[in-house]
Amino acid sequence: MTAMTEEIQKLSKRFLKMYPVKDIDLKLMMNNLSKLDYDDSMEYQEKLLRSTIHHPIVQKYPPTILYRQRFLKRLITEIEDINLEVIDSLYKAYTNLLSQENRNTENSGSISYCYKTYCLAPELTITLKETQNIISEGTTGMFTWQASHVLADWCQKEADSFSGKNVLELGAGLGLTGLTVIKACNPASYTFTDLHMSVLKTLKENILINLCNGSSPESTNEPSDGFSIPYKDTRVSVKRLDWTSDHVQSSCDIVLAADVVYDTEIIFPLVLILKEALGKSDGATAYVASTIRNQDTFNCFRNALVSNNVKVKSESHHAYQESPSQQKSFIIIMKLML
Ligand SMILES: C[S@@+](CC[C@H](N)C(=O)[O-])C[C@H]1O[C@@H](n2cnc3c(N)ncnc32)[C@H](O)[C@@H]1O
Repeated sequence: MTAMTEEIQKLSKRFLKMYPVKDIDLKLMMNNLSKLDYDDSMEYQEKLLRSTIHHPIVQKYPPTILYRQRFLKRLITEIEDINLEVIDSLYKAYTNLLSQENRNTENSGSISYCYKTYCLAPELTITLKETQNIISEGTTGMFTWQASHVLADWCQKEADSFSGKNVLELGAGLGLTGLTVIKACNPASYTFTDLHMSVLKTLKENILINLCNGSSPESTNEPSDGFSIPYKDTRVSVKRLDWTSDHVQSSCDIVLAADVVYDTEIIFPLVLILKEALGKSDGATAYVASTIRNQDTFNCFRNALVSNNVKVKSESHHAYQESPSQQKSFIIIMKLML
């Protein structure tokens, strides 16, 4: 692959996941472009357009209109700044977007959704319907949190330990961790659980997008809070599970949870449900990824683990920063067993 193609692919991946436009570094790309003759420059710009705004995934699952407008405006300005002719189709794409109502991709009721596509590995792309707000409809579950990115990445690296295993996820949110494990780690079963109905409904859509090409097999006409489909060698299920009132129904080998330690009021029921899940089969292990925002909250989780005899077998520390303008997060993945 030439360096120029690599630059376009990098830009494409960033665009698809709605990486902040202001943090996209276009210097190298503009440098490449400035060295090309007229025809090659036109061809390069067409390629840029095909890999971003006109990318096949974007036709079905686009980032917000505002994001696409900002991206194109930046691209056009940068090309103009190096005194190159901008291809007509770039201007046309921009004016098309301007003429569309300046709203998010899909508005239903008060929630504004967008699609973000994460290219996690060469054969691993996950598209999620998400909100851009960290709290929507009174839940934090409609947004993909940093700990989920870190846990998904960690699971990919540990793929062998998931192969043929039954996995239960608590507070699954929109599904990034689970979809990664299902696609990259070949578990025997994966059960997503969450509390909130809007989260479960959007999670179901994300499962259909990524595992069923966006279509609904008949079995998924079942309600969002209780459905099950096969995907390759994995039985994929979604269940509503409230840590404060429900019980774990079946045994599992691995329990996963990302960013569930943030509210001291739900830490105790969370630890009890973790203990219950771990107690259902010998040697069951939980991996809980937590962003350290407030040391007292995290200490409260540690203390609750100790008082319930849940052992911390090991922990690994990770830093996550989406882009230079975003705050860096510190995440701990704890391995827990009884
Ligand atoms: C901060 S979000 C994390 C979502 C996802 N794991 C991620 O990292 O992107 C916390 C999740 O825990 C869920 N949750 C909160 N309280 C819960 C409870 N009592 N029972 C089950 N799930 C709960 C929320 O609905 C939400 O999806």
